Amino acid sequence: MTRHAATSRKPRSRAGRTIEPARLRGIVLLLAAVAGIVLSVPSRAAYPPAVRGVGGAVASAAQDATTAGIEMLGRGGNAVDAAVATALVLAVVHPEAGNLGGGGFAVVRMDGRVYTLDFRETAPAAATSGMFLDRKGRPVAERSLVGPLAAGVPGSPAGLWTLHHRFGKLPWPTVVAPAMWLARDGFVVSERLARDLEASRDLLARFPETAAVWLPGGTPPAAGTLIRLPELAALLEAYSKDGPNAITGGPAGAAIELASRRHGGVLRAADLAAFRPVWRNPVRFAAWGWEVASMDLPSSGGILLGESAGMLQRLHWERLPRFGARADHLLVEAWRRAYADRFLLGDPLTCPVNAGQLLSPAWLDRRARSIDPARATPSEQVGPWPGAPSGESRQTTHLSTADAQGNVVSLTTTLNGLFGCGLMVPGVGIFLNNEMDDFAAAPGQPNQFGLIQGKANAVAPGRRMLSSMSPTVAWKNGQVIALGSPGGSRIPTATLQALLNFIVYDDGLQAAVDRPRLHHQWQPDRIDAEPDALAPETADALRRMGHRIRIVPRLGRVNAVRVLPDSRVEAAADPRGPGFARVVAIGRSPR
Ligand code: DON
Repeated sequence: MTRHAATSRKPRSRAGRTIEPARLRGIVLLLAAVAGIVLSVPSRAAYPPAVRGVGGAVASAAQDATTAGIEMLGRGGNAVDAAVATALVLAVVHPEAGNLGGGGFAVVRMDGRVYTLDFRETAPAAATSGMFLDRKGRPVAERSLVGPLAAGVPGSPAGLWTLHHRFGKLPWPTVVAPAMWLARDGFVVSERLARDLEASRDLLARFPETAAVWLPGGTPPAAGTLIRLPELAALLEAYSKDGPNAITGGPAGAAIELASRRHGGVLRAADLAAFRPVWRNPVRFAAWGWEVASMDLPSSGGILLGESAGMLQRLHWERLPRFGARADHLLVEAWRRAYADRFLLGDPLTCPVNAGQLLSPAWLDRRARSIDPARATPSEQVGPWPGAPSGESRQTTHLSTADAQGNVVSLTTTLNGLFGCGLMVPGVGIFLNNEMDDFAAAPGQPNQFGLIQGKANAVAPGRRMLSSMSPTVAWKNGQVIALGSPGGSRIPTATLQALLNFIVYDDGLQAAVDRPRLHHQWQPDRIDAEPDALAPETADALRRMGHRIRIVPRLGRVNAVRVLPDSRVEAAADPRGPGFARVVAIGRSPR
């Protein structure tokens, strides 16, 4: 069955089957009577509650990483100390996405104020607009995906350091230590890492430097194997003493340049040294009484969230029956229009349009008015914002942290593809990203995930490639939540649905994260739906309205935390993950 039947008041299995509580009770009592036992029958929600505590919370994609974040909170660190320690451990134990060779975005709410840090990669100085095209001007995906030509200038080393430098309470070496010890003393290969290594075997085998570590004897290590990464441990030790320069300068910077040159890349030590993270203003909007802050350009995430929420509020989406065809239709039509506007977006330095224009009441009114409540608008009839001149599912990871003072961090970081471009730099121990594929190699043509992007996101030296990452924070009356997701173009829709479940429907945090999801991104013109997301009658009604539907295994992996008004905290990891949510029982007691 479906989301539709699965309100928080009705039991629902992971597979989505729902049984009316009264019927369930009847069946169980009958069974109990037959067995001669008296059973007490639960009639509460089938979604598990989020884990709850009083001292701080962390939700991330790996157990060791969440544990490191919790350890920082236990030592008196704040949400930023926890987030940075968690991210660094992900760079060790979750190397397919966690990274020091990639980039990301962080949204921090600290003492009631919101800050956003952009440590997105940039194109190297020698990048050119035609570097991923063949002689006929057609994109060659291989070039923007495999090997160091695909690598943007890593932003994580300076990004994580800058985040900590501004807000962290604990000494920097303390925050780096858990990652360093895990790299040095070893960690256990998880089921997921073993699976991802196997799936990426061909990519990893292209680079002898990578294969030497991750394909010993030609095969990836099995789940349960203890792995040590001494080069990465040494790098982290230097990072803990000297900060980002230990990675982007000196011998490490030279080794990255050497590896890049050897495999045909244009990334140079001078690019690494020139990278600077940027503190930006968040995208802010109001949604059903909540204040929301998310990432502005060069991520499209906050604008997509804000535009979608703006249209839905104008159409009184909340008044329609939940999970019915009319509500899902409006959701999809709002996304269709917001993703059409994404076509215009790119690095804010050169982008012809900004969040203020796309979130202006006049534009949202016009967009909302163009939605037919009964019929799908074909995407080719929906153009981007007229004032302008003119599937992605790779590897990313999201973590959320909260501390006892109610501060939160929402941080998404990525290599883009699983293990980035596949090259692990010898002597340095980090994978380089393949983020250059997020540029529009040939503006106007779909990339391999069907996203059509415009000139503002063409490759140019020093430019930041457009992202969909949507680390988000929302607050109301003393409650705060932080959430986000991996999933490429599906990140904003996954994040928005979890947010809507929570703020519009009052779902518990875990239910808000767990519920099946939908996605639409303008082009290709179809709804992607998780297997349990649509009741058959809803799917039929949507088809009658003119929608095409494709079933996909999963959409995003949301990791969220929440601070309650009484200062207790909750953490919810996405079962689509795996993800790991923990809270710590230190700090002040609930008011
Ligand atoms: O920045 C972006 O939007 C993409 N590079 C993110 C890729 C991604 O989320 C892959 N994750 N599963």
